[in-house]
Amino acid sequence: MDVSFTVNGAPRALQLDDARVTLLDALRQHLDLTGTKKGCDHGQCGACTVIVNGRRINSCLTLAVMHDGDEITTIEGIGTPGDLTPLQQAFIKHDGFQCGYCTPGQIMSATAMLDEIRDGMPSQLSEDLGPPRLTRDEVRERMSGNLCRCSCYPNIVDAICEVAE
Ligand code: FES
Repeated sequence: MDVSFTVNGAPRALQLDDARVTLLDALRQHLDLTGTKKGCDHGQCGACTVIVNGRRINSCLTLAVMHDGDEITTIEGIGTPGDLTPLQQAFIKHDGFQCGYCTPGQIMSATAMLDEIRDGMPSQLSEDLGPPRLTRDEVRERMSGNLCRCSCYPNIVDAICEVAE
């Protein structure tokens, strides 16, 4: 099956023998974009998070052929080693990782989540408090799909809150 999409701003076309190839495996095995990690492969850990058409998804839970025409951003499309995004810099500043395996997924998820906030998506958890305002509890809730086996959660929240302010 043929599938074409845009990955990190570049058009990419794949011929897949098996329609059951997940987007995660297509990125890692067919496009050599190995920054997106496979943890559980069952939608539990968030290590495979990518952004599709502006929304974060677990790429292990979706088939590549379902994304024909979509715009996909992976961690390779977020910052560069010499020009990290403010969020990536904040993760370093606040030690938002130890082993680093979950970090690409954390960065992708937080990047999309911050974009949701900036785009004015209603903040469900604080709507009683007036205009959307990102509290630490909200960050924890909105990032609850991304697990960190090293348990760096307080540092990850610190990093995200610094950029959100
Ligand atoms: Fe996709 Fe864990 S590898 S959620």
